[in-house]
Amino acid sequence: MEIKKVGVVGCGLMGAGITKVCAQSGYQTVVSEINQQLLDKGLGVVKSSLAKGVEKGKLTETDMQATLDRLKGTLSVDDFKDCDFIIEAVIENMELKKKVFADLDRVCPKHTILSTNTSCLSIIDIAMATKRPDKVLGMHFFNPVPIMRLLEIVKTVVTSEETLNSAKAFGQTLGKTIVIAQDAPGFIVSRLLIPYMLDSIRMLETGYATKEDIDQAVKLGLNFPMGPFELGDLVGLDTTYFIACAMYDELKDPRFAPPILLKKMVTAGYLGRKTGKGFYDYK
Ligand code: 3HC
Repeated sequence: MEIKKVGVVGCGLMGAGITKVCAQSGYQTVVSEINQQLLDKGLGVVKSSLAKGVEKGKLTETDMQATLDRLKGTLSVDDFKDCDFIIEAVIENMELKKKVFADLDRVCPKHTILSTNTSCLSIIDIAMATKRPDKVLGMHFFNPVPIMRLLEIVKTVVTSEETLNSAKAFGQTLGKTIVIAQDAPGFIVSRLLIPYMLDSIRMLETGYATKEDIDQAVKLGLNFPMGPFELGDLVGLDTTYFIACAMYDELKDPRFAPPILLKKMVTAGYLGRKTGKGFYDYK
């Protein structure tokens, strides 16, 4: 199937990155938000990231302008009516995702593939909110989307081979390396990442080591680019908490139970870089 126009639902941390990558890869891209303020903020992130690229000599002014010309922001689901491929990147809430997919199913043409960037929720549950579950799958990107090379494609028991093949071909045109995961909690990466991040928080909680020493140990001892606390602040502690809760709900495995410290930080609004404070201070 030829993909010309892409829709991205949500222009937050992940949605903005996905939007930038799609528009820069030559696709007409329409991105939606729930209000003008969030839309302006998300599009502002895309624009400043492109402008930084020009400053660093990674792309020309002409390329930047051409990318911006392919990009359109909207507040209306009706603007997805001529999209060939949709990537949903709203918050990790099953009821919200089901509503988004039911709306997209109503508006989009029959051939349109509907995908979700969820890190942990059951894709078949989301797919069954539509009348085209064979055309629904997971497209799980990693933060920061323009830099991270991996794309996890998640198929359900109903996803058709044709849908899977179109998604793989599309993902490759975005410059991503693809792995295929089953529709099981956390897929591949979050299944490994979440227990590691939660264990790090438990180490801090019990006074086993400081966050600075844990981060330093992981960076210098394991050669990870970031320690678990730096990574939590990058991904968002609310997102980390939602993923842990959703995975614990499904698996009932105590390794996925969120530590109290994480819950308290989320309650306090210490969500990481996006709020200026998480485990570290960014003000
Ligand atoms: N958007 C675009 N480009 C970005 C960026 C962003 N948000 N953040 C950094 N970059 C670019 C920089 O411009 C720089 O480009 P250059 O080399 O051409 O100048 C390059 O990335 C390196 O950046 P920095 O020099 O500022 O910093 P680092 O070398 O420390 O790299 C990092 C930053 C790429 C974030 C690196 O620390 C890293 O890879 N961290 C781990 C990230 C990770 O593990 N992500 C996965 C999280 S899990 C997830 O996303 C799943 C989700 O569902 C929860």
